Formats: sequence, structure tokens, C-alpha cells
Amino acid sequence: MNAPFQARAGLRDPFTAFVCDDSTADMLRPVAVEHGWSPEKVNKGGLRNAVQSLSVSASPNILFVDLSESADPLNDINALAEVCEPGTIVIAAGQVNDVRLYRDLVASGIHDYLLKPFTVDQLRDSFAHAQTILSGPRGEAQADKPHVMSAVIGVRGGVGASTMATSLAWMLGQNANRSTALLDLDVHFGTGALALDLEPGRGLTDAIENPSRIDGLFIERAMVRANEHLSVLSAEAPIHQPLMSDGTAFFQLQEEMRNAFESTVMDLPRHMLIAHPHLVHDAHVAVVVAELTLAATRDAIRILAWLKSNAPQTKVIVVANGVPSGGSLEISRKDFEQSIERPVDVVFPYDSKIAAQSAKLGKPLAEIATGKAAAPFNLLLSMVLSHASEDGASGAIQKSAGSKSLVDNLKSMLAKPKAKAA
Ligand SMILES: Nc1ncnc2c1ncn2[C@@H]1O[C@H](COP(=O)(O)OP(=O)(O)O)[C@@H](O)[C@H]1O
Ligand SMILES: [Mg+2]
Repeated sequence: MNAPFQARAGLRDPFTAFVCDDSTADMLRPVAVEHGWSPEKVNKGGLRNAVQSLSVSASPNILFVDLSESADPLNDINALAEVCEPGTIVIAAGQVNDVRLYRDLVASGIHDYLLKPFTVDQLRDSFAHAQTILSGPRGEAQADKPHVMSAVIGVRGGVGASTMATSLAWMLGQNANRSTALLDLDVHFGTGALALDLEPGRGLTDAIENPSRIDGLFIERAMVRANEHLSVLSAEAPIHQPLMSDGTAFFQLQEEMRNAFESTVMDLPRHMLIAHPHLVHDAHVAVVVAELTLAATRDAIRILAWLKSNAPQTKVIVVANGVPSGGSLEISRKDFEQSIERPVDVVFPYDSKIAAQSAKLGKPLAEIATGKAAAPFNLLLSMVLSHASEDGASGAIQKSAGSKSLVDNLKSMLAKPKAKAA
């Protein structure tokens, strides 16, 4: 699912339907007109056509989909979830009268299931309820998941900051079930897209050159989707000319990502920290990545001090990455901790095998690291979430760091009904 948002540029339609038979279409069209929607948005082809169409176009606010021709509705809804953008309210109709299916569909994030044949009034009721949700506060998801803004800062180049940023963003999506943005601020040499086997696109470069264009729609178009939970804004800006920015673009990108996603991970090269100190002001958490070397110790001291005076409200997590297992350390962990006057929070051992595999497969390290190797990643994720939730702004943040079910995946993809079955 590497389809970039660019492929689905365009404003969201208020309504689209994919039905299986003429009588359903005939019932839907006038009701659509009553709501001010175009009757031409009632298409044939049912769920299958819905999946095909939505994979190449923007998702509507309200989607009506007929499951009558689907042999395995629950499974097919999964396919729909993959192409449907978050926020769409899905109303399904079908002929299977089975309360278990109904419950499963609702648990998957389907707003309503209309058993065929249904009446015009049932249809109107369902649309009316969907509209109340759309016009209400932006969904439950955002209410129980306040935004988590994190910055990952390498104390030196090559210590694995981008590796950590990509992994953290991936885990926030996959394990914590949050829609997540990865903002790669290494504008010329960023690896955020590369590490996920994506083309970076021109989005970030465009944003910097023309910050006034940045809004919600811009974000939707410019960001490249890595999976259903993770979108990336990264660049390989041309290196024959410097990109000039007074920082407005970055500030605005942060702002828009806060609106559009449940978490943001900024891959923040240290020179960007110096040029644009405001970038960390709104971060709940700063993950400072170091290695156990003399130079990294010196720079860790300086960057930690900088954070203390420039962003005192930001919680800091110190990561020691690439720590060799033998005794061949340039500086011991104890000496490192003494020098930086605080403990190391998470240690990632040097592991060339998973690093190589991660690069070859175009998958984040956290996805490759299983078993024992997953432990530091899980610790990092839970620390980021708990630090962010300690922050007054961030209320109850889900702390689960395990893998999650298909149903959870679907739930985050599709808009949730208000009174949803557990
Ligand atoms: N724990 C680790 N063990 C082995 N190699 C690692 C580890 N962490 C990162 N690397 C490798 O180090 C290289 C530099 O990582 P990167 O994240 O790009 O660093 P930075 O962004 O700090 O410059 C990459 O090739 C990455 O695969
Ligand atoms: Mg980097």
C-alpha cells in the first residue's frame, strides 16, 4: 500500500455510493438529492468497485457500500479499509441477517449496517446519524488520543537518529494504533522516505518554497503514505542551491500535522535545531540519540543543555544506539552517564544483521527487530507515550506496545460510530 496521497488529490466528496442492484440505486438517488448530493455519485459494482475506485481517488465523507455480492464481507471490508482514508463514515448494506456479522462489522469501524430490503426511512436515519457525527467535534479518536509531538535528535550524524525516528513513527502507528506523520527535516539528504521504500515527492520542498500554501489539503496531497497508519513528508531537495526558510514552513507543517494526525515524529537534524529552535517548543518529547563515543558524549552534553534552556517543558529520552556487545567501547555507559549527568533511558545494541535487513527490505528497524531485539523498541515507544501523557495536554494515551488485531487496524481506518459495540 504505497499509494501516495498525490494519486488521490482533490477535495473530498460529501457522498459516494456503490450499490449492487437497480432497486437500491433507485432508492438512494432521491435521498442523495434530498441531502444536496449528486445522484451521479450512486455507482454500480458494490464493494468491489468501491475498493477499486477509492484506491485511485479521495475518499468521500460518507460512503455507502453494498455487500450483497461479497462472499466474505468481513474480509472484503478489510480491503476497503486499506484504501479508505481515515474519517470516512461507512454505511454498509447486505442480505446476511446475522447478528455476529453485524457486531463484527461495527467493531471494524462500520458506522451502520442496513439489512436488505430496508426502507427509505431507515436509510434517511442512517444518513442523518452519519451527518451528526461529521458535524460534531472531530470524532472520538481525537478526543481520547490527544496529539503526541515528538522530535528525534541525533547528537551527531550517523548515530541512528533517522533509524529511530522512522521506527518510532512506525510503532506509533502500528503498535499504538495512532495515525502518525513522519516529518523528515533533513531536507537535502533525508532518509525518511528511502527507509520505507517510498519516493519522497516534492511536498516538503514545495512547502518550504511556498509556506503560504500549507493547509490541511496540502498536507493530504503532499504526504506519502507508508501504510494505513503512517504518512511521510520527506525530501531529496536539489543540492545545487540552498533552500531558504525562515522557519515559517516548518512551523505551519507542525500545526497542520497536529490537526491531521494523532502523532508526529520529527526527524530533526541538529543544525535545524540551531537554525529553528522553535521546532522543539511544542514537542512533548525529545528523543536524543547518541552513541557511546567521546565525540557523541561531548555533543550529547551540549544538546541536553540546549534543550534544558530552550525547551524546558519538553521531556527528554536519552537513547544510546549501536552499542557493541563486547567490551570494545570508546567510553563506558557509566562514564557516559556521569558526563551527561543523567541516566541513559534506552540502549540499542549494535546489530548489523537487522540493520542490513531493514535497509534491504525498506522496512523500519522496529519492524524487523523481533524477539529480544524488540525490547528496546517497545521501551522507547512506551516511554514516549507515557512522557507525552504526563504532559497536561495529553490526557489518556494508550500505552499498549504489543501487536494489535485486524479489528484495531480497521477501527483506526474507518470512522467510529459513537455507541460502538466493544
Ligand atoms: N543499532 C544499530 N546497529 C547497527 N546499525 C545501525 C543501528 N542503528 C542504525 N544503524 C545504521 O547506521 C546507519 C546510520 O543511521 P541513520 O539513522 O541514518 O543515522 P543518522 O540519522 O543519525 O545520521 C544506517 O545505515 C543504519 O542502518
Ligand atoms: Mg539522519
